[in-house]
This record gives sequence, structure tokens and C-alpha cells, in this order.
Amino acid sequence: TPDLNVNFAGIKLKNPVLTASGTFGYGYELADLIPLKRLGGIVTKTITLEPRAGNLQPRIAEVASGILNSIGLQNIGVKAFIKEPLEKLNKLGVPVIVSVAGAAADEYVKTVRILSGQNGVSAIELNLSCPNLKKKIVCHDLSLMRDVIRGVKKVSGIPVIAKLSPLVTDISELALAAQNAGADGVTLANTYPAMAVDVRTFKPKLSTVKGGMSGACVKPMSVRCVYDAYRDIKIPIVGCGGIMTGEDAVEFILAGAAAVSVGSSSLVSPGNLIAIIDGIENILKSKDVKSVKEITGIINEIR
Ligand code: DOR
Repeated sequence: TPDLNVNFAGIKLKNPVLTASGTFGYGYELADLIPLKRLGGIVTKTITLEPRAGNLQPRIAEVASGILNSIGLQNIGVKAFIKEPLEKLNKLGVPVIVSVAGAAADEYVKTVRILSGQNGVSAIELNLSCPNLKKKIVCHDLSLMRDVIRGVKKVSGIPVIAKLSPLVTDISELALAAQNAGADGVTLANTYPAMAVDVRTFKPKLSTVKGGMSGACVKPMSVRCVYDAYRDIKIPIVGCGGIMTGEDAVEFILAGAAAVSVGSSSLVSPGNLIAIIDGIENILKSKDVKSVKEITGIINEIR
């Protein structure tokens, strides 16, 4: 059988498949539905310093080939998170990557300081790209993004992955800026700023009007983000956007993703995560590839 192990910025993953932040709750809730142990890792829903109620309903809408959301970072806050969810996550034997956001650099830093003192946090994913807040997307302000990454790196002691927005003129430039500020990896990418209108009611499908688009329709754009960034950065990439099958995951890996995260597909059915892991293994077998590392980024050799 092919070797699916990856060492992502020092985090040992038994396969490249991670959950995507916000689509898998805090993680442990799914324990009765799928064998969580089989996952490469769990990326939690984004945690902030204080609890947040999120945006008003409706904040999820299904549209053709995807899902539109405007959750607005609903979460229980870091103090409640380390009490219950984190303790339960610790017992699963799966690497836990905690997603973190904040309204200002010092909020990110305070939250990460609390988390890094805890057992069982393998890495931090900095959510620098939520499209559903009143403020502008963090990574659209380069100096704020740098302050967040630098500040967090000073206190974290564990790998820090920067999750970036796909809505930029040059994703490579943004990924390079994250790398230069000290990020150990990047996730490409968050949801795509979007909206949808219900023509029967003449009303927007989301209370906030605007939201973030995920699912099958975003895959080619996210694959392109990974491909472009892979050429310019040294740190590893988590590919994210519309991965529904093992084939989709391998596509991201060929473009340069060392790991992938799966969101919409696991919302539809969490069992898809396991099918994706098996799918990757079967493709490698059929192509006589010994290890997933062998094919990471090989599309970039074609010029
Ligand atoms: O699409 C998203 N929705 N991306 C995020 O980063 C956060 C989430 C939300 O809570 O709105």
C-alpha cells in the first residue's frame, strides 16, 4: 500500500486529509458518525477570545454546485473551548489544528497564548480571511496580516498556518508575505466572496446579503491558487476548495498541496472524508506511486 504520511511543517499526519475549519464543528461531535482516527487531522471551527453569536439567520444557502454561508464566526470563545471541546478532542488520537480569529492583532495573540499553554494542540490555523464580518478581510490589509502572524509566532511555540482569501490580485504575493512574516504554512483558500438572490421573494438568500462560496464550483480556482503559490513559496500548502472525491484531492496535491482540507463535502456527508482518503490511496496504487510526497507539486515541472 502507498505511503500516505505527510510531515506538514513539523505536524505528523497519517494522511493528507484534514477537515476544513467551520464545517466540522469542534470535531469530537462527529465521533459516532465516522472513525475520526482515520483522519489526517481535525481543523476546528474558528475560535475567538470572546464568545460570538454570529450573524442572523438565514446564514446558509445551497446554490448550484455549492454552499453560500455567512455564519460570522459563531463560537463559544477560547475559555469554554479549552474546557470541553479540547479535552474531548485530546482523547481521539488525531492531530488537532485550532483555527483562530480576532478583531485586532492583540486579540489573535491573546487567544493563541491561551491555546498554546494547553495539551493537545498540534498547530494553529490563523483565519485571516473570513469574508463575513463587517470589517474588511484581515489579509486584505497586509500590515495587519503581518502584525497578526508576527505577534502569534512570538507566543505560539507550535506551527502557525495562515488561511488566506482567494480574492486577491496575486495569491503568490500574499502567500509570500505570510511566509516572510513567519507563517509555517498556508491554507489556500477560504470561501469566495459571493451572494445569491431568491427570485421568488425578491430577497437575498442570506441575512447579510453577502457571503462566502464553497463547494464543487470553486475547485478550479482554488487549485490555481495552490499552483501559483507553490512556485513562489517554500512553506507547505493546505489545498482547500470543493474537494468532493479522492480525484479532487489528488488534483490539489499534483498542483502543490502537501495536505488538503475538506469542507462542503463533509457537510453533505461526513463519511465522504473517509471515501476521499481511500480514494487517494486507490489512485496512488493504480498509478504505482509509492508515496504521496512523490507527486506533490509535479504539475509545476510542466512549463
Ligand atoms: O466562509 C467562511 N465562513 N469563512 C470563514 O472564514 C468563516 C465562516 C464564518 O463563520 O462566517
